[in-house]
Amino acid sequence: MQIAETIQELRQARQKLSGRIGLVPTMGYLHEGHLSLVRTARAECDHVLATIFVNPAQFSAQEDLASYPRDLPRDLAMLEAEGVGLVFTPSAELMYPPGYQTYVTVEQVSQGKEGSARPGHFRGVATVVAKLFNLIQAQRAYFGQKDAQQVAVIRRMTHDLNFPLEIVVCPIVREADGLAMSSRNVYLSPAERRAAAVVPQAWQRAAQAYGAGERHPEVLRSIVREHIAQEPLARLDYVSVASARTLAEQDAPSEEPLLLSLAVQVGRPRLLDNCLLPMALNTREGASAVLGRIE
Ligand code: PAJ
Repeated sequence: MQIAETIQELRQARQKLSGRIGLVPTMGYLHEGHLSLVRTARAECDHVLATIFVNPAQFSAQEDLASYPRDLPRDLAMLEAEGVGLVFTPSAELMYPPGYQTYVTVEQVSQGKEGSARPGHFRGVATVVAKLFNLIQAQRAYFGQKDAQQVAVIRRMTHDLNFPLEIVVCPIVREADGLAMSSRNVYLSPAERRAAAVVPQAWQRAAQAYGAGERHPEVLRSIVREHIAQEPLARLDYVSVASARTLAEQDAPSEEPLLLSLAVQVGRPRLLDNCLLPMALNTREGASAVLGRIE
């Protein structure tokens, strides 16, 4: 496995790869969620190119940039074991040298939900992903449904800036009790970790109601609210029932594919989770076909 730390090393190594390249962008501290993207990319592409970069542009001043968990040697060993051919591990100075002033803003779909909770976050995400797309020239890029609004932002940016690549969306990988895997789960104390199981339980209850025919977005949201309210260590930040394609919040019952998403503060981390409705859409094919889909 080759490791590129500079733009020149990346370009040289990239030029030697032919066939279909699958790009897997990450911020490192890898877990099974990230590895599921790598495995899907390996199954579908000739070469997998992973990136590890804790992107300062997507963290606000109040957020955990300095303490974001990092373990590069472990990450590289994991990627090598998965058959990744090339890893790009740039420094912040390389990606944002002194004088840097170009940013990508995706307007509507960056608003609401995570966009309201984390002003400037999606501008940082869209900027770094646009830079990676431009540098790497992959045919496919793999993202997790876990960060559903991020998928919609990246799909809009890819379409609007005419990047000739396909966005693939992979389902959420979970712990045994249903908690979505996340690098930030390491911040949970043992009691908070136990309490965190209410997050998947909450959307599962709403999904059950949907399965039984419930279509009122507000009823689905209140099922989530009521379940989270039962756990004293959890505080619901938002629950959203939106169009899976546009992410527009829904007021009226409909048979369109929906994204039910929530953010819950448990101790230090904000835990994100979501499901697509109907539940059969929560697969690589289903999520890639609907989530943030432009046409
Ligand atoms: P990071 O949080 O490291 O996640 C990298 C990728 O892994 C994202 O596409 C994310 O959705 C996916 N992922 C995380 N947890 C997952 C889980 N439990 N199951 C499935 N996929 C999961 O997302 C980012 O980094 C950054 O914003 C990035 C896109 C790299 C831009 O900086």
